[in-house]
Amino acid sequence: MTEKTSVPASRAPDAAARSAFAAALAREPGVHDPVVVAALARVPRRLLMPRLFAPVSSERPLRRWRLVDFADEPEQHLAVCYGMDQVVVQLDCRPPGPLLAGREYVGVPTGQSSGAGLLAVTLQDISLGPGDRFLEIGACTGYLSAAAAELTGRQATGVEIDRELVRDAVPRLAAIGANVRLMVRDGLRGLPEGEWDAIAGSFAVRRIPATWLHRLTPGGRLRTTLTTGAPGWHATALVHRDEAGALSGRLAGELWGHVPDRVGGWIPLTNAPVGTGRSRSAVLVPPAPVERGFWAALGHTLPGVRRHWDAPGFDDEVVLAAADGSWAAVAQDGTRAVEWGPRNLWREAEEIHARWTAAGRPVEYRLEFSDGVQRAVGGPGLSWEIAAT
Ligand SMILES: C[S@@+](CC[C@H](N)C(=O)[O-])C[C@H]1O[C@@H](n2cnc3c(N)ncnc32)[C@H](O)[C@@H]1O
Repeated sequence: MTEKTSVPASRAPDAAARSAFAAALAREPGVHDPVVVAALARVPRRLLMPRLFAPVSSERPLRRWRLVDFADEPEQHLAVCYGMDQVVVQLDCRPPGPLLAGREYVGVPTGQSSGAGLLAVTLQDISLGPGDRFLEIGACTGYLSAAAAELTGRQATGVEIDRELVRDAVPRLAAIGANVRLMVRDGLRGLPEGEWDAIAGSFAVRRIPATWLHRLTPGGRLRTTLTTGAPGWHATALVHRDEAGALSGRLAGELWGHVPDRVGGWIPLTNAPVGTGRSRSAVLVPPAPVERGFWAALGHTLPGVRRHWDAPGFDDEVVLAAADGSWAAVAQDGTRAVEWGPRNLWREAEEIHARWTAAGRPVEYRLEFSDGVQRAVGGPGLSWEIAAT
């Protein structure tokens, strides 16, 4: 795949940035397959996202952006485009076309090419081989699909709910010679005809849609992010259909994953509690975020509960919040927990922790599929049905 048929890859304006990208990507956690790295680096990413939103500050959540056009600011553009973070191409579902390059904008990303490490791990997990029929659900710029087509040597298919994103992406994919068919479709409501050897869900779902599973051919692999709507408590579902047609899989807690689908979104935060709350001392020390197996189990077994990552006034505490207004603020060293509202959220978390510990502190869960029910099983006393909350 070349930048333009007349420009040798080594002389393309992004040649140096692309080779630095490949080197950095190979060092990302979990990335181990040089064939996958090479496929991602071969796709001239900058031509798929000639205008992008660069974060103005690193304060999270990222909300302030500057629209950077390669034509005006090539160095700044390449630094973001070939960095390891997600590359934002759309804010608040608005097409970026009429916006002025160089200006600052405030908004929530609604179209982004995911972090390069996540894309590489995705391609590794679904182990694409020559001739595989690949489907991406939530394809955005088509970058992952273009790399998948490189790996399979066959046309890849992507579906994307946003008409504007597809309108922008289709001619760009054609211009770089990517063998990708991109179509506008709500991937939660139906998929293009056909069976697929590999499916990548590029947005997070509450439960794996039955149609995704039905369309997986014997021997097929599916990867998607599962979320309960709680930011930071993602889980990756990897599913395999064996030659006899039976489904099995695993669910692994993750720190990072895809953003939720456009309708599901995150669990909304409730207002800070008033009053002094109910205080307890010597409580469970909040497990670090890297205890991903615990936090994934907590999210699923306490649906509607999320962590408030930057609750004003609670800088030194871990804060949990639930939709009914219940809050818990827990000292990092476990010396004290304060709970407000109808539920004792940290008490509930301690019970889940006891069950998780008794089950052997799993990082991963077995996924079982039977009669339309999806279950995660972590060991004795720790399993749950994955429900479409
Ligand atoms: C993280 S982006 C995918 C990035 C892509 N892998 C790339 O490299 O450019 C997720 C995309 O999923 C799309 N999406 C969200 N909900 C969807 C749905 N129900 N059906 C199809 N696409 C959806 C969003 O519009 C967004 O463009």
